[in-house]
Amino acid sequence: MKKVVLTTLLLGLSFGAIAEQPVGDYKNWRLLSVSHRTDKQTLRAILGNDTAIESARAGKIAPWAEGSILAKVKWKESIHANWAAAIVPGEFEAAEAMVKDSKKYATTGGWGFGKWQGNDLVMFDETKSKECFACHTAALQKNDYVFTHSALQ
Ligand code: HEC
Repeated sequence: MKKVVLTTLLLGLSFGAIAEQPVGDYKNWRLLSVSHRTDKQTLRAILGNDTAIESARAGKIAPWAEGSILAKVKWKESIHANWAAAIVPGEFEAAEAMVKDSKKYATTGGWGFGKWQGNDLVMFDETKSKECFACHTAALQKNDYVFTHSALQ
């Protein structure tokens, strides 16, 4: 009996842990905005999970709702083969993330920083996250350290 209870408890714990992992399917997320970094010659799409999109559309961005995940997908800029004036995504560069959990990531403004490796979201350790966060302080605390504003209202 004791064994059964323990097994159930362990199963419950491990499922709980999986459910808490940020999901990796950013390719199905909705668009928050786009950006063009002229200093890096890259195009970016900023996407959000459902929590983030709903939070943004409700104007709840100071702070963003707990569980919001923002994805920044970067491509090298390239010129469209059939239309020279059109700058379009070229080679894929990286997909980076910010995950809102104000308790877990209290030392970096309540945001955890990470990047996708394929479909897996891998969170950076605190040292690396602090490097990301250092620049994101330029977005200011009143914007919850997020640069992007929702382009679709
Ligand atoms: C030198 C400054 C700088 C550093 C370092 C930096 N970022 Fe950003 N980040 C920006 C700027 C500026 C934007 C908004 C423009 C854009 O889309 O690139 C941005 C946007 C983002 C966004 C979209 C949400 C938002 O704030 O607009 C995510 C997600 C993101 N960065 C993740 C990261 C991660 C992860 C790291 C660390 C590996 C990182 N950033 C490091 C400057 C920086």
